[in-house]
Amino acid sequence: MTRHFLALHDYTKDELDAMLLLAADLKSKQKNGIPHKLLDGKTVALIFEKASTRTRVSFEVGVFQLGGHGLFMSSGTSQMGRGEPIKDSARVMARYCDGVMIRTFGQEIVDEFAKYSGVPVINGLTDLFHPCQIMADLQTVIEHKKSYEGLTFAWVGDGNNMSNTWIEAAAIFGFKLRLACPAGYEPDSKVMAWAQTKAPGLISLTTDPKAAVSGADVINTDVWASMGQESEQKEREKAFAGYCLDDALLALAKPDAIVLHCLPAHRGEEISDSVIEGKHSVVWDEAENRLHIQKAIMATLIK
Ligand code: CP
Ligand code: NVA
Repeated sequence: MTRHFLALHDYTKDELDAMLLLAADLKSKQKNGIPHKLLDGKTVALIFEKASTRTRVSFEVGVFQLGGHGLFMSSGTSQMGRGEPIKDSARVMARYCDGVMIRTFGQEIVDEFAKYSGVPVINGLTDLFHPCQIMADLQTVIEHKKSYEGLTFAWVGDGNNMSNTWIEAAAIFGFKLRLACPAGYEPDSKVMAWAQTKAPGLISLTTDPKAAVSGADVINTDVWASMGQESEQKEREKAFAGYCLDDALLALAKPDAIVLHCLPAHRGEEISDSVIEGKHSVVWDEAENRLHIQKAIMATLIK
């Protein structure tokens, strides 16, 4: 059976831990010049319906390092952008390629693509989830904190694709997650209900960033207006007043807390320049780890 990587909830903790271990191994091999051509001769299509820097570069470079070929496609320059049905595109692409990564809008688009694709499909971000990013974030946490076990994670900001994926991660991996989101900008209610059932008592939601950050080990934030929400920027700036991860807020966390941001960042909005450039920030390691974890995900799925 073809396995896809559309959401963390399709995987067990053991399966995701195995990917994290493989990512660490592949990172070490890449740093030491040891060949690891696990996708020798394979082609992975990379379909973008939204902008990207990290996802595009890390997937293209990652496939290349694994001995394969990454094929960039954008909806604007393919028939997908002219209304060719997803199910037709999926079946055709699977006749040429060994795997597909898609970045798009609704989660139902990646679900539909996967339903008709005979090859593994990887979610490179939807409005609902960003699973590759959270796996890279966890690899970064493991590198800096030895393990995610026993840590308290805090989310400050929008209840968006990143926070939804953190909620799934907390429930699957079993760590504490405290989210602070303004009223009206809460995470997806179905995702929250699923996680509360799977892991009661681990995840809490408040409107008070200080309550979320106090004593936390890992602090995470993201832009206030995600891709597709650009027209809401001004009203969101008002709603998110007081949600900037700045030095005063970070001072409430554990003294050795680390700060994550998936990037791109808007300095002076969700994060201050001093925090993203400061000693707690591990955002560049986090960005690098997109490369390593995605190689592990592709190598696990694409045979
Ligand atoms: N973090 C992330 O997914 O970055 P890009 O939008 O640049 O791919
Ligand atoms: N929440 C952001 C993440 C970007 C990587 C967005 O969807 O635009």
